[in-house]
Order: sequence, then structure tokens, then C-alpha cells
Amino acid sequence: MSQVQASNSGAELNLRDDFPALLQEIHGHELVYLDSAASAQQPKSVIDTVARYQQHDHANVHRGVHTLSHRATEAYEGARDKLQGFINARSRSEIVLTSGTTESINLVAQSFCRPRLKPGDKVLITHLEHHSNIVPWQFVCEQTGAEMLVAPIDSRGQLELDALEQLLTDDVKMLAIGHVSNALGTINPLRKIISLARERDIPVLVDGAQAVPHMAVDVQELGCDFYAFSGHKMLGPTGTGVLFGKEALLDDMPPWQGGGDMILEVRFDGTVFNELPYKFEAGTPNIAGVIGLGAAVDYLEGISMDRIAAHEATLLDYLMQQLSAVDDLRLIGTAEHKASVQSFMLGDIHPHDLGTILDHQGIAIRTGHHCAMPVMDFFKLPGTARASLALYNSRDDVDRLCAAIRKAAAVFA
Ligand code: ALA
Repeated sequence: MSQVQASNSGAELNLRDDFPALLQEIHGHELVYLDSAASAQQPKSVIDTVARYQQHDHANVHRGVHTLSHRATEAYEGARDKLQGFINARSRSEIVLTSGTTESINLVAQSFCRPRLKPGDKVLITHLEHHSNIVPWQFVCEQTGAEMLVAPIDSRGQLELDALEQLLTDDVKMLAIGHVSNALGTINPLRKIISLARERDIPVLVDGAQAVPHMAVDVQELGCDFYAFSGHKMLGPTGTGVLFGKEALLDDMPPWQGGGDMILEVRFDGTVFNELPYKFEAGTPNIAGVIGLGAAVDYLEGISMDRIAAHEATLLDYLMQQLSAVDDLRLIGTAEHKASVQSFMLGDIHPHDLGTILDHQGIAIRTGHHCAMPVMDFFKLPGTARASLALYNSRDDVDRLCAAIRKAAAVFA
């Protein structure tokens, strides 16, 4: 029986042993890792796949006639196929491999929007966005004279849908929206929002960085035009990511960066670009990382995204319940539909101080603005403490967190 099957026989997942980094002590305590929204840990299968590739198969891709280059190319392109299946894209040409969500969104802002936007046009985002789904739109608005609009949220951290619908006017040339908020965990009702945008012929880009590790995502079912995500939040290596784009749109877009691999022919008087998706992949890519990301897809699918979603939903309920029972603790972000993340404040203790004390008890959380300063401004906070869950977390982790928070509260009292 494989490690995954063996550890999955019960109702709740029990995967800790698959993740070597979790099997260590920090300051004399077993590590409790609750910072997967920033970067998830990698299973041994991913680490071994990357090491095996580095030891035996490394060469450049798409360039050589020799055996190692064939092996590297096959494994790299195999990962693309896995990623296509993972989000159910119609074709492998729709999977552009990037360095992560940030690059994917910048690519769309510069290659899709920049040539199309003119003064008076609008780009609509929401108040929930991560900086990487704000700043690229600010750049392109400055470059073109377009304006950025922001759909509001309510006190639970949910989008105000009526207000968002009213903002979807003919002037809007792009709706860029997160699937799951990294700071609050809110799951946006994307199907409804995308269908409102489609009725008005407004293209939609989804920042899926915080969704793909936690739930099954089907881009055809969602009907979005672009979907961006990162490898390192879904158990893969850092510096990897995906831009899904509908083939007809990608086909029509100019390359974003020039260099090797994105060309068919280069002459001093002009260059013929490569076909999709290579047109958008200039230079030697992160070959080992992408191959590792393919192994991460295998691992996630080996468990099943539906089981992961169910495990994490139960655990998030437990986390919210247990945190609510801590004296003087305030939950930030209490949307009806949430995934994997809970922000909170403990009395008037600064989140960084709380995070440091928790670290001394072996608990890793993230503190600060979580690259979502507008969300913090909305709640009039400089930052929050944030516990974020992944498939390898357990009730025991939640209990350890809450015990450590109570201890911290006693220290500050
Ligand atoms: N976007 C990452 C986070 O939410 C870094 O922590």
C-alpha cells in the first residue's frame, strides 16, 4: 500500500508523515505549521522527483537531440499535461508556465489589456485582492489612461454583490478577481460573478492562488477567460506557476517577453513567434521546479481534491470554533463561505509580538498585512495574525495553536 493510501484510510486525512519538513522540532517543540497560505510544505514525492531529475536527467528543454534533453523535455511537458488535467483546461496550449501568480497576472495586464485599454476605460477589481492583483492593474491604468474601480466588501469580508453588479458597466474592459481571499479566506461566488460579466462581454481574470490547493477547480465550468495560480502554494516548488488563458484570447495576444524558446525564426529585420503556449515562455524555464509541480499534482490527485476540501472544511470549522472560545480574541473575516484561512487579533497585542511568542512554542503563523493592505485598511488594522490550513494539518495542530495563544495572553497580562 502506498504512503498516501495507508495514511488515508480514516475519514480525516492524516498526511503529516509524508512531509519531511513537518517532522522537526522548533525551539524544542514539534512544529505546527499554519502558514501554508504563504507557502505550503512539500511532500517527499515532490522533493524526490526534483532530486532525481537534478541527479539523472538535467539538461535544457526543447533544444537538444541528446538523451538528457529528451528526458528533461518529456518530464517538463508531462507536467504541463498534468496541470491541464488538474484544472480541466480544454487544451495544453492554454497552459502557460510562469514563475507564479504574480507573473501570470502581469502577463495578462501587459499583453492582453495594455493594447486594448484607452482613456475612459475601466478595470474592475475588488477590495479583497492581494497586491499582485492590484499593482499590475495600477501599472496598466497609468500606461493607458484607464481607471481602476474597486468593488466593496462588507464587515464579514464578503463582496457586496449588488454593488459589484452595478460597477459592471460597458466601460469595464477587465474584471480581475480572487477566487479565495488570502487574508480572510472568503470564497467568492465566482460562477455567478463570471456569468454577470459574460452577459456584458467583460473578460474575467481569476487569481486562483489560494483556491487550487484547497478545492477542485474546473476552468471550463467556471467560464473565466484567465486563471492564474502558483506552484508553491499547492505543494510544489517556488518559482513555478500557471497562466490558463482561453486559446482564442492567447492566440490574439502579443508575446510579453522576448528571448529564446518563444521564437520560430529570428532575423535582424523581424522575428516569427512560436506557437502557443511557447510564445509566452521566453528563456530557459524553471525546469526542475515545473517537474516538481507535476509531482505535486500527482500527490494532490492521488488523495483527491474533494477529500482535501472536505478535510479542510471540517478543520476550518474547528479552528474558528476553538479560536472563538479564546478570551479577548476577535476573528477577522467571517464570511459564510470560507476556505483554509483565519485571521484574528488577540486583545491589543501586536500580531508580530504574538507571532514571535507562538514561534517559541513551535507554532508557525503569518502576521502582518498579508500583502493585502487594503483589506487591513478596511478593518482599520495595521495587520492581523493569520493561521492558514492545508491538507496535512489536524485538530491537534489547532489545539496546540489555541493553547499557545492562551499562554501568550497570560504572558502579556
Ligand atoms: N500571498 C502570500 C500570503 O498570503 C504570500 O501569505
